[in-house]
Formats: sequence, structure tokens, C-alpha cells
Amino acid sequence: MTAQFENFNLIDHPLVKRDITVLRNSSTQPEIFRAAVKRISNILAVEICKDMPVSEFKVDTPLETTTGYKIQHEVVLVPVLRAGLGMVSGFLEIIPDAKVGHIGLQRDETTLQPVEYYYKTPKNIDVAKVILIDPMLATGGSASEAINYLKKRGVKKLIFSCLVAAPEGIKKLLELHPDVKIYGAAIDRELNNKGYILPGLGDAGDRTFGTL
Ligand code: PRP
Ligand code: URA
Repeated sequence: MTAQFENFNLIDHPLVKRDITVLRNSSTQPEIFRAAVKRISNILAVEICKDMPVSEFKVDTPLETTTGYKIQHEVVLVPVLRAGLGMVSGFLEIIPDAKVGHIGLQRDETTLQPVEYYYKTPKNIDVAKVILIDPMLATGGSASEAINYLKKRGVKKLIFSCLVAAPEGIKKLLELHPDVKIYGAAIDRELNNKGYILPGLGDAGDRTFGTL
């Protein structure tokens, strides 16, 4: 379902709503938090793959030859470190042959600007279908920086997937990268003066890895 933003596909599903609630709850412990992130990531991956073109090939069943299908383009998942790592296993369960690149970005807590510290992406990423993964789209600075990096490497088929998005971040991506479709599980109200999403779920990296 497309929500009020033309670039944003909101996954409107009871199981996603239930698990987003688990994530929002401040008493949810990291183990339960990670399990809920994984389940939502499964559903996001299924939804994202819905529009992927397939190629046909011949497959031999035990009885005869018939038409088989495979996803046409190689898929590369690119989590933004560190919180994006929590979504990778859920995506890989659905797209097991995907390759995984990594982009290390950390928001400077004062300026809210992304600071880069690591990049490693597979060869031939320019012809792959790339799914950039980060649970939080807040100001949009980190996602936008990661997209710039991928575009510089020739990536053309690019999707951004998150759990919770703020209107400010969605608008920024629409302005800077109108060609990138976003798939997400919730659109929240606003950012606070520290750049945190309200109502949100807090710091996704800290809640995933228990570093609060
Ligand atoms: C979080 C989140 C995004 C970023 C979003 O990462 O995972 O990468 O903030 O904020 P933005 O849209 O305003 O850029 P953080 O910088 O906290 O790093 P971490 O994953 O290492 O905790
Ligand atoms: N990053 C997070 O982890 N949470 C927010 O609310 C905003 C940015």
C-alpha cells in the first residue's frame, strides 16, 4: 500500500503492526527485540520481491520437464551499520542467495550529520537489484549518504527499506532521490529536537545490541 508519500510503500499488515508495537515497548529486551525485527524483515522482503521480474528456465520434475522461475537480477542487501545488521537475517531467509555489502555510518549526535567509517560492497553491484537496509529513517541524512555512495558505484535498481520513518526523512529522500522507492513498516509523527523519531522506538542500534 502506498501511504501519503508517493515514494513510500507502507506495509499495512496486522503482524507488522503487532511487531512494531513489540519494538516500541521500552521494556522489550534485546532478544525479543531482535526476533521482532527479524519477523518484520521477513514480511518486508516478501513485499519488496513482489515486483521483481523473473526469468523462465526448464526444470525436470521426477515426472517430466516443466517451466521453472528464478529472480531475474542478482539481489544485494546493504545494511547500514550498525542497526541495519539486525534486519539482514530476516531478509536472507526470504532471499537466501542475496549477497551482502556493508556501509558504516554513524550520526554525529550534535550535528546529526552522518559520519562514514566503513564501505564494502560486492563486485558487479551496478547491475544488481540493491536493497539498502536501515531500521530508522529520521532526518534522512544517513540513508541519503548511503544512496549517494551506491549511485556513485553505478547502482540503478535501488530500494530503501526501513522499519520506522519520520516524515522529515521521507521528504528529504523524495527531494534528493525521487527514483528510490521506500518500503517501511510505520510512518511516525515527527522528530524531536535531538533528531529522534516520535513516538519511535528509541535508538535502534542500542536496542538491538543491548548497548543502552
Ligand atoms: C541510526 C539509524 C540510522 C540513523 C538514522 O544509526 O540506524 O542509520 O541513525 O538517522 P538519520 O536519518 O537522522 O541519519 P546511528 O547513527 O544511531 O548508528 P548505530 O546504528 O551505530 O546505532
Ligand atoms: N536513530 C535511531 O536509532 N532512532 C531514532 O529515533 C532516530 C535515529
